[in-house]
Amino acid sequence: MNKLDTALVSSALKDAGFNLTESVKEADVVLINTCSVRQHAEERVLSHLGHLKHIKESRPDMVVAVIGCMAQRLGDKLLEHEAVNIVCGPVQLPQITELLTKALQQKKKELAVTQKIRRKTPRQQDQALEQFESAYGIGDRRIPGQAFVRAMRGCNKFCTYCVVPYVRGPELSRPPRAIIEQIKKLADQGVKQVTLLGQTVNSYKYKSGQRSYCLADLLDMAGNIEGIEWLKFVTNYPAEEFFDEILHVIADSPKVCPYLHIPAQSGSDKILHAMNRRYTAQWYLSLLDKARDIIPGIAIAGDFIVGFPGETDEDFEATVDLVKKARYRNCFIFKYSPRPGTKAETRLQDTVPAEVKQRRNIELLAVQEKISGKLSAEFLGKEVKILVEGLSKKPHLNAAEGDDNPQLLGRTATDYIVVFNGQQSLAGQFAKVKIIKTSPLTLFGQLT
Ligand code: 5AD
Ligand code: SF4
Repeated sequence: MNKLDTALVSSALKDAGFNLTESVKEADVVLINTCSVRQHAEERVLSHLGHLKHIKESRPDMVVAVIGCMAQRLGDKLLEHEAVNIVCGPVQLPQITELLTKALQQKKKELAVTQKIRRKTPRQQDQALEQFESAYGIGDRRIPGQAFVRAMRGCNKFCTYCVVPYVRGPELSRPPRAIIEQIKKLADQGVKQVTLLGQTVNSYKYKSGQRSYCLADLLDMAGNIEGIEWLKFVTNYPAEEFFDEILHVIADSPKVCPYLHIPAQSGSDKILHAMNRRYTAQWYLSLLDKARDIIPGIAIAGDFIVGFPGETDEDFEATVDLVKKARYRNCFIFKYSPRPGTKAETRLQDTVPAEVKQRRNIELLAVQEKISGKLSAEFLGKEVKILVEGLSKKPHLNAAEGDDNPQLLGRTATDYIVVFNGQQSLAGQFAKVKIIKTSPLTLFGQLT
């Protein structure tokens, strides 16, 4: 979601005549797009701001804007920071060029956030967001051939640990026509893979006259757009709502990738209840069984939080047990971080000591690594189709000795990372690669 917002903002700024630079030293304007989901993410922003304050001592005209979730969460408190000129929340992003131009001319501090974030977004603001999205909807161009498209904004689930409903506001599904038009435009520009985004994208719902659209309808319509080859969607909330429809569209449409990111968060029913996740571990596992019945070979990924208030060794063991049974292709594991204003923060004590959280994190990672390793190894000797992203950022041990081409990285439809040697011009193209080596998170191969 943040990558998409960054792409939209940088497109808007480019259109307004700004040029992008990678170097802070050269910049007249610095924007920091922020995340509030864990304290660590916010701490990193504050440390950047400390650095910028230092730079501003010799360059007082430099304008610094903090945008996104942390801007919405902290508002005027953040504006008090010496380094900060502009604080702009996610809903106000369409105003960003105007705010920057004003700050550059008038040298005043500017605050643009929503006072009552859980109120329905006013129509005018909604239209501005919609216009911003479609005008600059060219997606994330840093990865050629791919783009993100927002299906939904906000969240109404209120998991007790989560800050998102308080910073991104109420759930709202975008009109299917706007989404499909946007994807057509992207396809015309050479985009081959679109990822539909929403905090709980499987609950996408839009009523237009007599007709009601769900995510499966969107995927079906997008699959008919010429030029679009792969469709992905993140992230899913484990719920019955529309789930069968989604599984069937994956099974029936060759363009919808057989990959499901569906966070469980915990394997203990007691903790799930305290998190306000509305399912049991067993029900969640039965959902995965159903997905595998309908789509053999589907890759499933998840998220977990360890060290939620009240999590005992027994609760944690239930999580380990669920991870073993779920056979994820991979999962993301986070240590619980109390977020101000959430129910878990205001009503529960952060009882699990830091070292216990750390230990559980490492243990769960190790359990998953074993599973990922086994699943990866099944690819040995097989040929896979990938969409090439570009140069591999961290050079892996050279899989193909004697090949002078640079190391590239691509992903399969099931989101496996594949590293191989090839010409850089392959970025944005599909390629076939034979897998010759595997590790838990990466497949290594050779172009066939
Ligand atoms: N502490 C730790 N992890 C969190 N997540 C969300 N809120 C918190 C929090 N307060 C994790 C969840 C979610 C992912 C995006 O971040 O696992 O799925
Ligand atoms: Fe946060 Fe829960 Fe909404 Fe996901 S579903 S964004 S974890 S409140």
